[in-house]
Amino acid sequence: MDKFIVDGGIRLEGSITVSGAKNASLALMPTCLLTPDAFRLLNTPDNRDVLTFRRLLESMGITSAMDGHELTLDSSAINSHTAPYEHVKKMRASIYVLGPLVARYGKAHVSLPGGCNFGPRPVDLHLKGLERLGATITIEGGYINATAERLHGAHFHFDVSSVGATVNVMMAATLAKGETLLTNAATEPEVASLASMLVEMGAIIDGIGTTTLRIQGVDALHGVTTTTIPDRIEAGTFLIAGAMTKGDLTLENVEPLHLSAELQALQDAGCTIDTTANSIRVRMDANPEPVDITTTPYPGFPTDTQAQWAAFMLQAKGAARVRDTIYPTRFGYVPELQRLGADIETGEGYCVVKGGTRLTGATVMSSDLRASASLVMAGMIADGQTEVLRVYHIDRGYESIEHKLNAVGARIRRESTQEF
Ligand code: EPZ
Repeated sequence: MDKFIVDGGIRLEGSITVSGAKNASLALMPTCLLTPDAFRLLNTPDNRDVLTFRRLLESMGITSAMDGHELTLDSSAINSHTAPYEHVKKMRASIYVLGPLVARYGKAHVSLPGGCNFGPRPVDLHLKGLERLGATITIEGGYINATAERLHGAHFHFDVSSVGATVNVMMAATLAKGETLLTNAATEPEVASLASMLVEMGAIIDGIGTTTLRIQGVDALHGVTTTTIPDRIEAGTFLIAGAMTKGDLTLENVEPLHLSAELQALQDAGCTIDTTANSIRVRMDANPEPVDITTTPYPGFPTDTQAQWAAFMLQAKGAARVRDTIYPTRFGYVPELQRLGADIETGEGYCVVKGGTRLTGATVMSSDLRASASLVMAGMIADGQTEVLRVYHIDRGYESIEHKLNAVGARIRRESTQEF
């Protein structure tokens, strides 16, 4: 397992090109199961989750090749409709093969995903949606068994706004017989980018980007070459890191509209933000004003950026509350920040960060992908050095994060450890 040694007292200045969005790639990749044609996904991030998904698809007989950031997938030689536990346990998004398998092949045997470090992550909406489209679903031995003669259109209302359930049910509906109406569908940019790609493949989808998706089923979809949207969570992470270090950082290859809530919070905290069509510049020369945030589904403040915001508020001129309405227990990073000297109280679904305490470097443990990023960021503003253990969490969702940050002034060294 690798660890990062992070030097404190640095200032980020310069420009970073943001990678393609992990959570878009993970939604685009399983659509290879919906068509016999090969297809290419440009601007695919070279991170651990994409590799994990490639290994899962390859275990089913799909061929995959990654040339730089160009991913080619071809399901013509598929020889299995099973997503085994050994793959699914590594990454929850593996369940995205369920909808396409049932829609195209009429059967799927997919391991239930485990929980994760920030609490239970049910898949009931994935299953209810597919059942509404006509799938017969049983759970046995930790596996989901789904069968269908041919899926048929239906109206399905999502009780909760769910990115994953919308992805799964929408993919399935593209090949169902008749019209499907999805209401209270997730509107995250990653979901909209999947819908757009499905339309490029021949699907008929109206309402893209809204909570109401109307899908006319078709008999077949064809291959496509498409470009993955920029990663708004990576972008938000770097903007906050730039602000924390009182730096001057410009991000290239971003879509500012995907970060409206984050940019507003940064400006409320006292940052200067300048944007163009595909870049965002953040400047900060003082400690931030305390700004409370509450996460909500897009276009609200994303749950994937709340740990990073808490790290930023460590320097605030007062106390700021960070509340997560999507994952109320996603505060595993708090005890780790407290090891650096942070003064944070936690409550039911929120924490209160009392800014202005000096932070001193220590050894800390990553718990989930985004919590790990907040530990690295805190290490950049702590006195001395901070060791962040188990950075494989970070590698899941950030491509070469230490190279990107070191190129603009950070001092992060990766070392392998014998830790078991
Ligand atoms: C996606 O997870 C993202 N992952 C997560 O990012 C992100 O935190 C999350 O959306 C919320 O934005 C990918 O896109 C691969 P949900 P997902 O279904 O789809 C409840 C990261 O760091 N729910 O939108 O699993 C659920 O409990 C990862 O990149 C049900 O009740 O999230 C939660 O409270 C972490 N039943 C809420 O919906 C279901 O069947 C939102 O979850 C499904 C979800």
